[in-house]
Amino acid sequence: MRRFSSDLRRSGKTIAFVPTMGFLHQGHLSLMEKGKSLAARLVVSIFVNPTQFGPNEDLAAYPKDEARDLDMTQKAGVDAVFIPDVQQIYPSGCQTVVLLKFLPGHLCGLSRPGHFNGVATVVTKLLGIVRPHTALFGEKDFQQLAVIRQMVKDLEIGIDIVAAPIVREADGLAMSSRNMYLTSDQRKSATSLYRALTASRQMVKNGETSAEVIIRSAAARISAVPETIIDYIAICDPQTLEDVAVVSGPVLMAMAIMVGKPRLIDNMMLTP
Ligand code: PAJ
Repeated sequence: MRRFSSDLRRSGKTIAFVPTMGFLHQGHLSLMEKGKSLAARLVVSIFVNPTQFGPNEDLAAYPKDEARDLDMTQKAGVDAVFIPDVQQIYPSGCQTVVLLKFLPGHLCGLSRPGHFNGVATVVTKLLGIVRPHTALFGEKDFQQLAVIRQMVKDLEIGIDIVAAPIVREADGLAMSSRNMYLTSDQRKSATSLYRALTASRQMVKNGETSAEVIIRSAAARISAVPETIIDYIAICDPQTLEDVAVVSGPVLMAMAIMVGKPRLIDNMMLTP
């Protein structure tokens, strides 16, 4: 991977990079498409990063289909797919981690302690190996995107971070590798996230400014469908991710909902 990258750089070619954990879908493909338009060469990584999973999370059960992924990347015109193993990324004796002070203290960071430090650490390593000019991330994982932007700035990594919008199924469910674990009943319940977000957006358009009122209404909508357990529903500042009480400008509404076993996340900007 290093040789591939340094040869490209020596010949003056730019590199775009899309890090993934595999089991690719249209959301990943949209990042690849954008990446192709931004650089001469496109690299994708597939690595299920153990350090971003908590002890009770789905690391062992994370879906995997390398043959299908490689077929999809080939059709998408990806120039190289980097598939390291855990020993290569975390050789014994490695001791450096990347910790952020504030951004992980909100939203998903509260129920997934250590998650964003695992993400920041692995992305730093992958950027150091692939050495792209541009790296692309989805707004689906809004907090992850914020963490990576902050880390790239703080550590002077000198790479452009490009965001891409959430790709959704026809009924609004945000695409995710974890959606495959939903039973058909849970799959129906899962549309409540998007419905609650669009209803909230409409409330704000209609002049509602109380975050509490909007969140309560969204929670009622989601609790009304079977098999949902709310982890959090928040309205926050899109830069700091701190809670906002009064919606007076663009805010981020973000949520994590367990639908059966799978924990689904979604978000949307609300603009008065
Ligand atoms: P993964 O969940 O595989 O996602 C890889 C990238 O695809 C992320 O930037 C994510 O935001 C984006 N993505 C996923 N679903 C999307 C959707 N429906 N619409 C748009 N983009 C979507 O995120 C990770 O992997 C890992 O944390 C990683 C960054 C690779 C570090 O391990």
